[in-house]
Amino acid sequence: MSFTKAPGVEDIFPDRIPGWNRITASARKNFELFNFREVIIPVMEYTELFSRGIGDETDIVSKEMFTFEDRGGRSLTLRPEGTASVVRAYNENGEYNRLSVCKLFYIGSMFRAERPQKGRLRQFNQFGAELFGDDSPFYDYEVISMMNSIALDLGISNYELLINSIGCEECRPAYLEKLKEYYQSNKSVLCEDCVKRLEKNPLRILDCKKEGCKSLKDAAPVLPEFLCSSCAEHHVSVKSYLSGAGIAFKEDPFLVRGLDYYAKTTFEFVTTALGGQNAFAAGGRYNKLVEILGGKPTPAVGFAAGIERLMILTEANPPAPLSLDAFIIYSDEKYFQHSAELLRKLRMEGISADIDPSCKSMKSQMKKMDRENARFALIIGDEEINEKTVTVKNTATREQQKISEGDVSAFIKNNKR
Ligand code: HAM
Repeated sequence: MSFTKAPGVEDIFPDRIPGWNRITASARKNFELFNFREVIIPVMEYTELFSRGIGDETDIVSKEMFTFEDRGGRSLTLRPEGTASVVRAYNENGEYNRLSVCKLFYIGSMFRAERPQKGRLRQFNQFGAELFGDDSPFYDYEVISMMNSIALDLGISNYELLINSIGCEECRPAYLEKLKEYYQSNKSVLCEDCVKRLEKNPLRILDCKKEGCKSLKDAAPVLPEFLCSSCAEHHVSVKSYLSGAGIAFKEDPFLVRGLDYYAKTTFEFVTTALGGQNAFAAGGRYNKLVEILGGKPTPAVGFAAGIERLMILTEANPPAPLSLDAFIIYSDEKYFQHSAELLRKLRMEGISADIDPSCKSMKSQMKKMDRENARFALIIGDEEINEKTVTVKNTATREQQKISEGDVSAFIKNNKR
């Protein structure tokens, strides 16, 4: 019996790894430039963390979670996103939640039972950052500009930054009333799900992808008109920081996001190059979540980006494939032990190297070497054994020279590609 992978998961083979590493390296570099520190969080949590944190009415919680019972009958869920977990970890760890500002980042797999398609997976990977402890609009700007730096660093062009403010618990209720009134009077056009959302969470209707619900959106009341003075000022400041830094953005008054925890700023980085899945990164401010999940009232802001979506956007410009420093070729079976010893020493000295242990012809060994993309062939025959040398052949230029065995690793290190 042979096995296939489950729907919506991917194997990333070595040819795509340099592209993957370029993305995570750029994220790490920028996070560190902005003074964020890495946190590694578990892939599973008690289910209630997500239902409370993300919201019962969201698609993620109501339809997309991989939930199961552990052996003690407790409900666990594979994390569909990182924010709720990072908040839980922050709340549990006094050393970090006592800092006046705590900046954390994470990289890892998330799980959502969505219908798979290009750029939409059931197991996908995000890098994300969360900042706790300060409501300053400067930090909303910082988080956005950090993602912008990563996108520019990766050579991604043709994207748009959409931003909005969805207000706070002071100003949003009045908006929600107006929104309810509006949709109530157009109830017959709404899909079944949105009729339910009308009572429980009308904001979610703005996110619905069904044609009828989408068609009502254009004439719906817009949130920015309802913002209280504090939210309005915050929004103006975020925008002026962005403009001051030359970061172009477009205001989208309907950008409410698919998670319930946001307040004030929401944003998305979107592109048409991804087909149906247009966002490659998104986030916003969530000043109530820490408290909702049992912590002290703590303002927070963050974002996450989809690594597979960034892979699609950067694959046209692939980084150099991985290469091997050296491949050892020996002329006779009797020199295999000697060659294996050289291999061991080279690796200890930091040279990546390999050998074919089959003791077949040199031609067959060369063929194997060609598949490995080795920079140097290290050839060992009668002469080399007698003289304690190695013939070092540059596989690109085809130049070769004999080098004393003890000098091989220094030679390879001094001859970078
Ligand atoms: P999100 O918009 O659900 O936000 O996901 C962020 C990014 O993850 C998306 O823009 C997309 O690139 C990627 N993504 C989401 N779902 C999938 C999928 N099924 N397949 C492939 N990629 C996907 C969050 O997750 C929030 N936690 C962001 C945040 C952090 N807000 C504040 N802090």
